[in-house]
Amino acid sequence: MSPAPLVCPACRHVVGGDLHVRTLAPVGGLLGCDCGATYPVVDGIPIVFRDVDTWLRSEGVEALRRHDLPDDVAARIAVGTGGAAARNASLVDVYTRSREGALQDWLRDRIAALDGAILEMGAGIGASSRPDVLALDHNLALLRHHPAARVCGDAADPPFLPASFDAVVLANVLDSCAQPGLILAQADALLRPGGRLIVTCAYAFHEDITPRGQRFGPQELAAALDGRAPLLGYGIPHRRIEEIDRVAWPLALSERLTHVHAAHALISVKSG
Ligand SMILES: C[S@@+](CC[C@H](N)C(=O)[O-])C[C@H]1O[C@@H](n2cnc3c(N)ncnc32)[C@H](O)[C@@H]1O
Ligand SMILES: [Zn+2]
Repeated sequence: MSPAPLVCPACRHVVGGDLHVRTLAPVGGLLGCDCGATYPVVDGIPIVFRDVDTWLRSEGVEALRRHDLPDDVAARIAVGTGGAAARNASLVDVYTRSREGALQDWLRDRIAALDGAILEMGAGIGASSRPDVLALDHNLALLRHHPAARVCGDAADPPFLPASFDAVVLANVLDSCAQPGLILAQADALLRPGGRLIVTCAYAFHEDITPRGQRFGPQELAAALDGRAPLLGYGIPHRRIEEIDRVAWPLALSERLTHVHAAHALISVKSG
């Protein structure tokens, strides 16, 4: 179960500038909120979306998976089942084959140096082997391979209290999501003043994931992490302390085909 208190996204709202939240508590095998919303917990991973049923319609096949299936059996069944199961099995293969590379080393090194409560947003199978981070992703299949505590949820609507983390990692997420500006702003909101943000991005936007109006380039990201200019309308009060561009990020798409992205990596500190 998550080490951080989980917030109910279904009833979170702002009244007169104040944020009203309720936290979740066990109700049988589920997590429940006083508002009546319930969230499944699968193999110790809470599934906490504002609209869980919409997520279940696309990804529920993964949630119903027997927890004791060996990976090769699960992968074989996923291929036969098709749809989200097959897509997820192929993503798991790509990321488990792609643990080595310059960006992967940079991330492991920088994450190893972080202190306090750490959140990895859009964590996938994890950018480090640190067991004390908290991993958030909307892909349950990838999260099953993450070594740390995990929550399946939406990084654009994260089920955590504001200012509850000392560090947030956004590794290769901003160009793999629908609302990168909002996700960056949510990462900032979850940080305590003085907290650290690690962001890496290869600007490899996909037509069917990130709408054109939501895309950006390296200058815009650097300006946002400098606190100089908003990214896609969301300003964050940060001071950039590290930047390295064109770091090789190899992704082994198959045994014989590796795509190497030139990634941009930045670290900033939230102003107090
Ligand atoms: C390119 S992968 C990077 C994974 C990992 N951070 C890494 O560097 O290996 C992008 C990840 O972001 C996740 N993701 C994209 N949009 C998301 C969202 N709105 N909420 C949660 N996770 C999201 C995907 O499921 C995927 O695991
Ligand atoms: Zn609620």
